[in-house]
Amino acid sequence: MKNGQYLTEKSWLLCVAIAGLLIGGLILSSFMRSGDTTFLCSLASSKARATAEYAATPIQLQAIVHYATSRIVPQQSLAEISVTFDVLKALAPCNFLVFGLGHDSLMWTSLNPRGTTIFLEEDPKWVQTVLKDAPTLQAHTVQYRTQLQEAHQLLSTYRSEPYCSPTKAYLRGNYNCKLALTGLPDAVYDKEWDLIMIDAPRGYFAEAPGRMAAIFSAAVMARARKGSGVTHVFLHDIDRKVEKVYAEEFLCRKHLVKAVARLWHFEIPPAANVTQGGGATGGEWFC
Ligand SMILES: C[S@@+](CC[C@H](N)C(=O)[O-])C[C@H]1O[C@@H](n2cnc3c(N)ncnc32)[C@H](O)[C@@H]1O
Repeated sequence: MKNGQYLTEKSWLLCVAIAGLLIGGLILSSFMRSGDTTFLCSLASSKARATAEYAATPIQLQAIVHYATSRIVPQQSLAEISVTFDVLKALAPCNFLVFGLGHDSLMWTSLNPRGTTIFLEEDPKWVQTVLKDAPTLQAHTVQYRTQLQEAHQLLSTYRSEPYCSPTKAYLRGNYNCKLALTGLPDAVYDKEWDLIMIDAPRGYFAEAPGRMAAIFSAAVMARARKGSGVTHVFLHDIDRKVEKVYAEEFLCRKHLVKAVARLWHFEIPPAANVTQGGGATGGEWFC
């Protein structure tokens, strides 16, 4: 009797298992037969998306070959490059504006995969030379209205020009303020930049443009940010007087978050988020 009961329970369980398999099979086949493959397709496409996200971009592959076969390396040291790389690792794909085209350009573009990296260069011949080997870099020639030898005079007079003041300054068409970069392409004015690297223009002889306008304009762009978060500004060659003094005037010590060798890293909040100081009528101006 006991044996009979055991057998009945066993056959009952077997029946339930077979029925479950049949129902499961029917559901799956109806998915496939009816052509309703949305579920399966979405699984496949999310896998494809994940694969594409981690696939190397063409410029990254080109950078590997370039740096593996070139004896010329970027001027910044590994420690200096790492400061910007750390931020790019957290923010990429993002908007990265770089003053200066050089041996580091392929590297910066590759470290911001699927982001926008734009280079601003003063020397048109140098643009041609660099683009010959790396035509997919996004580079624009910029005309500066300053010379290094004017740095001191510009710093001591800019406060008397209302359109250089933090509350009124803008860039596109601001011809009244000599420190404003007025000749940039629209692609630069129309974007909010998450990172700005200032490693140009040249600032080591009297007639060179100097970095005064690049520093001032980076401060104006950062303060005008509407999006969330801060603007990361990296300034190289801070061992030079003009870079240091202009950084202290426009990028501000209070926003300096890292100093590595000759590189300073600032995190500049949008002016709308700053409640105190920085006003044209207040005593603090930009800082
Ligand atoms: C201070 S350098 C920085 C270059 C960059 N950080 C690098 O690692 O190559 C910036 C400027 O120097 C000039 N420059 C750099 N390398 C050059 C070269 N080989 N020939 C001519 N001009 C060059 C360009 O005008 C460039 O914008």
